[in-house]
Amino acid sequence: MSNIEQLPTTKLQHQDANAHLHPFADYRLKQQQISQIIVKGDGVYVWDSEGHCMIDAMAGLWCTNVGYGRKSIADAVHKQMLQLSFYNTFFHTTHLPAIELATKLVEISPAQFNHVFFVGSGSEGNDTIVRLVRHYWNQKEQPGRQIIISRQNAYHGSTMAGASLGGWPSMHKQGGLPIPGIVHIGQPSYLEGGQGKSVEEFGLEAASWLENKIRELGPENVAAFIGEPVQGAGGVIVPPSTYWPEIQRICDKYGILLVADEVICGFGRLGTWFGCEALGFRPDLITFAKGVTSGYVPLGGVLVADRIVDTLAETGGEFNHGFTYSGHPIGCVAALENIRILEQENILNQVKNETGPYFQQKLTALNAHPLVGNSGGIGFLGGFNLYKHKGSTVHDHIPFSTSDNAGNLARANILASGVIVRLMPGDRLLMSPPLTLTRKEIDDTFNKITQGLDKTYEQLKQNARERTVV
Ligand SMILES: Cc1ncc(COP(=O)(O)O)c(C=O)c1O
Repeated sequence: MSNIEQLPTTKLQHQDANAHLHPFADYRLKQQQISQIIVKGDGVYVWDSEGHCMIDAMAGLWCTNVGYGRKSIADAVHKQMLQLSFYNTFFHTTHLPAIELATKLVEISPAQFNHVFFVGSGSEGNDTIVRLVRHYWNQKEQPGRQIIISRQNAYHGSTMAGASLGGWPSMHKQGGLPIPGIVHIGQPSYLEGGQGKSVEEFGLEAASWLENKIRELGPENVAAFIGEPVQGAGGVIVPPSTYWPEIQRICDKYGILLVADEVICGFGRLGTWFGCEALGFRPDLITFAKGVTSGYVPLGGVLVADRIVDTLAETGGEFNHGFTYSGHPIGCVAALENIRILEQENILNQVKNETGPYFQQKLTALNAHPLVGNSGGIGFLGGFNLYKHKGSTVHDHIPFSTSDNAGNLARANILASGVIVRLMPGDRLLMSPPLTLTRKEIDDTFNKITQGLDKTYEQLKQNARERTVV
């Protein structure tokens, strides 16, 4: 055994910087050796190598739905590793955990889903979507239908197809993306586009961008529309209630497949098994990952509606696609135990009717803080913005300038108070805590966030005073 646990933090940071290229990191900053080292998790808490205990209000990376340290998941994984550590599911081979998990997923998913294709991650799920919908239309003898419409600022993963479906210019710049046949429309962000309109009006307008795009491209060329029920990494953007039903109507009208990327919204985050159930639409395909195993082991999948499976079964021919770890037995048993916990502890119901509304109440109350505006979310997803001056509506608030560094200050102060939140550009802070967060822990989370914000407010005032004197 190595003695890594005994090494001091500075040494570990040095070793990490020497050997480890992190995802989504600026490698110039490697030299500073600043990575935070997380060494332990229990319930909603994690500890770093310096012994600091923090409420993980990001659930790892939007995934630790049942919290850390679940012995029953570890036991299930341990048992399966000894029984059958791996076998593939290619061709016509299978194993007991894959059979049991597929059956369970069919049971808990909306009625149109009776089949699942397993993958290892959300990105692989979305690559599968691209290949599957194009294959479907070929088999339907409508090979012209190849274009997939997605949205600006969406996040659908980091593989070539995932990043192409995503709408982040920073990702498209690297690697010659998007791949052909993927186009983007605007996102349903009321903050960005809703000025002078009611939220409901804006929802219909944002959905109409899809219809306009379909007409522009020609419906005979469009395969599918993909969206996250609530955009997660793009800033926790909850669409107006009119948005998804209208998107559904448009997809139905033009016979276009509707894909819900539920990698964040699935497995209870919005108080339902899948986010589409909370937001009122009926997709043909669902991508899932993260919360299916609460991140204990990587696993993802695509739920495929009967209309697609029936066509592929009738027309025949191999679907030439799959991953070594599609339906990995260890991932499957972790998922089964995770789903059992979600059911047994009645977690979806709590998020929907009890702790979720309480979390949202506390989040909305943050708007009273002099720095905060546009706070809100749904279920156990949320976010808030920092503003220099607040006007009477969100559209009148004045943001900080980049040089104020408000977001970084706030994130660091909130972390120092003991809560992990995520910062995104535009001084927006995001939250996606474990679904097991209790009322008391919610109180504690928001007290600590307020402490961090108070300190930030004072620092920003002090910085502004110093600039005036200079
Ligand atoms: C909505 C959505 N889709 C896909 C992905 C990609 O998942 P993975 O990182 O497991 O490939 C993510 C990751 O955050 C996501 O939020």
